[in-house]
Amino acid sequence: MSALLIGIAGGTASGKTTLARILKDSFQDNVTILKHDYYYYDRSHFRVADHKINFDHPDSFETDLLVKQLQELKAGKTIERPVYSYKTNERLAKKKKVQPAPIIIVEGILIFHYEELKNLFDLKIYVDTDADIRLLRRISRDIKERDRTFESVKNQYLKTVKPMHQKFVEPSKYQADIIIPHGGLNEIANDLIIKKIKDHLRQI
Ligand code: ADP
Ligand code: C5P
Repeated sequence: MSALLIGIAGGTASGKTTLARILKDSFQDNVTILKHDYYYYDRSHFRVADHKINFDHPDSFETDLLVKQLQELKAGKTIERPVYSYKTNERLAKKKKVQPAPIIIVEGILIFHYEELKNLFDLKIYVDTDADIRLLRRISRDIKERDRTFESVKNQYLKTVKPMHQKFVEPSKYQADIIIPHGGLNEIANDLIIKKIKDHLRQI
């Protein structure tokens, strides 16, 4: 039996990474995680000042490469994924080897937007967290981990993050098999997903 591909979508700071980590901790080497964010184009691709880049538009990612590498992982091949820096908005020269695994998790705000990518998933999960909570989490995370200022987070949120969420991310929710409310640490939802993965592993 081939790998189970799980897509985890949801708005910025909704808890996608948190859920992916919980699943990785539960199943360890059986799980490989890929972030759509690894496939952001380098800043040079955009030809505008960094503060004007729209990182929340579907065209900002090299999604074709993600689709190709997912197909390779599914076929049991090792891939070399891109490495991306949120601090400099660059795709770094080094690449990272990723081994195939029985469970492959892909997470990202827009992964259910693209038909070809969406169709690869065996299970589509949307983490649904209120916008005010997500914004508060994003402010602290971006200042702490992504070298941003409060002003830059605020401007980016109003100019691109919020409108793109409403235009592309929120509508993609209806592509999901499961919508998890107040995402991140929703134990009942997490337990259901863990059971589904256990069933898959038993069948291999
Ligand atoms: P995403 O991957 O969707 O952007 P993360 O899982 O990275 O979201 O979560 C964004 C931030 O919110 C992180 O700093 C994380 O620690 C925090 N966070 C996630 N889930 C919760 C939760 N249930 N309660 C409080 N903080 C949370
Ligand atoms: O982890 P999260 O889902 O929040 O990551 C996606 C977000 O990262 C997008 O909303 C985008 O605005 C932001 N981003 C950024 N700078 C980059 C790349 C992405 O602020 N260089």
